[in-house]
Amino acid sequence: MQTEILDFFNQKDAALTKAAELIKNGEVVAIPTETVYGLAANALNAEAVKKIYLAKGRPSDNPLIVHIGDFSELEPLVAEIPEKVKKMAAEFWPGPLTMIMKKSSVIPDITSGGLDTVAVRMPESEAARAIISAAGVPLAAPSANLSGSPSPTNAKYVFDDMNGRIPLIIDAGPCKIGVESTVISFACEPPRLLRPGGITPEQIIELTGDIEIDGAVLNRLADTEKAASPGMKYKHYSPRAEITVVKGSFEAFYNFVKDKDCFVLCFDGEEGHFRNALTYGRENDSASQAKRLFDALRELDEKGAKTVYARCPDISGVGLAVYNRLIRSAGFNIIEV
Ligand code: TXA
Ligand code: MG
Repeated sequence: MQTEILDFFNQKDAALTKAAELIKNGEVVAIPTETVYGLAANALNAEAVKKIYLAKGRPSDNPLIVHIGDFSELEPLVAEIPEKVKKMAAEFWPGPLTMIMKKSSVIPDITSGGLDTVAVRMPESEAARAIISAAGVPLAAPSANLSGSPSPTNAKYVFDDMNGRIPLIIDAGPCKIGVESTVISFACEPPRLLRPGGITPEQIIELTGDIEIDGAVLNRLADTEKAASPGMKYKHYSPRAEITVVKGSFEAFYNFVKDKDCFVLCFDGEEGHFRNALTYGRENDSASQAKRLFDALRELDEKGAKTVYARCPDISGVGLAVYNRLIRSAGFNIIEV
């Protein structure tokens, strides 16, 4: 299969027409969102959704997020809309927030990975919204990487993973946020944060009161534990390089790595101290780290890095999402110096 790339801004009509036609015909199209690129298909068409799992090489028990363009499109997808969801949607949709509810019968089992719940998000990006509207159906879309790889934040990285596997990629430039949406379940009480993202626990608690943070957010699940979010049990975001997250001051980090044959993943301005270094944002700016992290992980592979020591981010606010992705990319290899 030839994979075509159309530019959303320079070829808008062609991009929207082609994307809508393919999606209506049960095909998969890679689309930009404000978080990361997604692999989209008609969420209500089981055959189409099956092609997403095939293109990604994703285990079939790992459910997909359903993307909508307007709040009115939520009602048919779910058994009921909890009050807290209405409140959250009014505040944070469109945006990097995915909410899980009991599903209705229109959601095929394959879309929800066999669960009786469904995850729904209303993205903010202009391109994503235009594509949802042109397709006229809710779009199931996981991140557009091969299963296990870092999520792609630009069309080139989508192409690297998906060339020959899908017919079309819509390019709208780099993603604004750079890590995937916050995932929170409202199918339980109190609501449970399954994956941290652009909307922070602090912001959610302020609006809806107490939430629980799932154990898989900060820790590796034991082999015997059942994951509330199936995606959390799989190895994820991993470059080929072996990464170790190093907690401690810059000075301690420097002394620890200075005589080692390795790459370092550090903060902006620190790179001059090392022979092989890549940066992922400013030390006290989680948003800048989120935007850079996945690109930096892919660049480490492009540079042939084998052993990587990474500076540990602060975990407040959006930093929790950065830390959550980084420790997974490191296979939970964390040390303190
Ligand atoms: O920002 C995002 O969320 C991106 C863009 C494309 O929208 N999408 C994304 O999808 O990151 P994906 O499939 O890579 O991650 C979805 C996560 C997985 O960890 C999955 O297990 C979890 O959400 N999930 C989806 N539906 C669920 C459900 N019903 N119950 C529990 N977890 C669910
Ligand atoms: Mg993903």
